Amino acid sequence: MIGFIGAGSIGGAVITGLVKNGFDADEIVVKGGRSNRTKLLDDQLGFKMVKKVKQLEDAEVIFIAVGANALDSVLTELKEIATGKLIVAFTGGASITHLKKILTGVKVAHAIPNTPVKVGAGFTGITYSDDFTAEDKKKIGSILGYTGQLVEVPEDQLGILGTVAGCSPAFLDVFIEALSDAGVKHGLNRKLSYEAAIGMAIGASKLAKQSQLNVSALKDEVTSPGGSTIKGVAALEENGFRNAVIKAVDAAEE
Ligand SMILES: NC(=O)c1ccc[n+]([C@@H]2O[C@H](COP(=O)([O-])OP(=O)(O)OC[C@H]3O[C@@H](n4cnc5c(N)ncnc54)[C@H](OP(=O)(O)O)[C@@H]3O)[C@@H](O)[C@H]2O)c1
Repeated sequence: MIGFIGAGSIGGAVITGLVKNGFDADEIVVKGGRSNRTKLLDDQLGFKMVKKVKQLEDAEVIFIAVGANALDSVLTELKEIATGKLIVAFTGGASITHLKKILTGVKVAHAIPNTPVKVGAGFTGITYSDDFTAEDKKKIGSILGYTGQLVEVPEDQLGILGTVAGCSPAFLDVFIEALSDAGVKHGLNRKLSYEAAIGMAIGASKLAKQSQLNVSALKDEVTSPGGSTIKGVAALEENGFRNAVIKAVDAAEE
């Protein structure tokens, strides 16, 4: 049995990714907040809902997906039942030190998933407290593995990893929208233009992954001398595309 406290944007995305990719909904128990968001999600997915944190006592692993303003009160309630469990907080700024301060003697982790977890194609960075065993990490991996990739990183890299993987789906959405606008400007209908841009993003990402991180070689392969693609690449650089992306990450990090 696994538990969730909070089923908003990211909690809901992780729960959806789990269930849609084969994790048994009967093994998930969720304590939601004040609105009907958790109920609406439950209507689609069929997990077990509870009203109080202490009703999560049968869960071996508990994921905390509330915002920073609700974290401490949730941790204080969780303290009563947390001994022997693995606790994973998604809350931004929830350091291992802070989690341990309230959940003394409990194994805690801080993870930052991104929204593609919802379709099983997520990228989640995670930092574990020192007392996590290899077996404990395997258990977390066996759960979050349903939602995509899980990568362990030192805590001081979790924030930037969360920005590069977590804010960038919105950056890519803007790119896809702009590409589709350009298609429409040159005569494609909107639906086809979106399909082409999205299909390209999926395919190019698969190819980039297969290239073992050598994306510049992929670009070189498709830029023939004096051809249209290198002219397009030059126009992107002329208009500060690369710098705009770096500045977007800088801004998100601030
Ligand atoms: N969104 C992302 O892509 C993302 C990615 C990684 C990490 N994070 C981090 O995850 C945290 C949550 O972000 P979010 O975007 O999911 O926010 P959100 O959509 O506002 O969800 C937070 C949820 O927590 C619930 N909640 C509040 N107090 C609660 C309590 N005492 N018990 C149970 N549930 C409670 C709220 O329920 P009600 O609304 O029903 O009251 C709300 O649905 C933030 O710290 C964020 O930085 C977000």
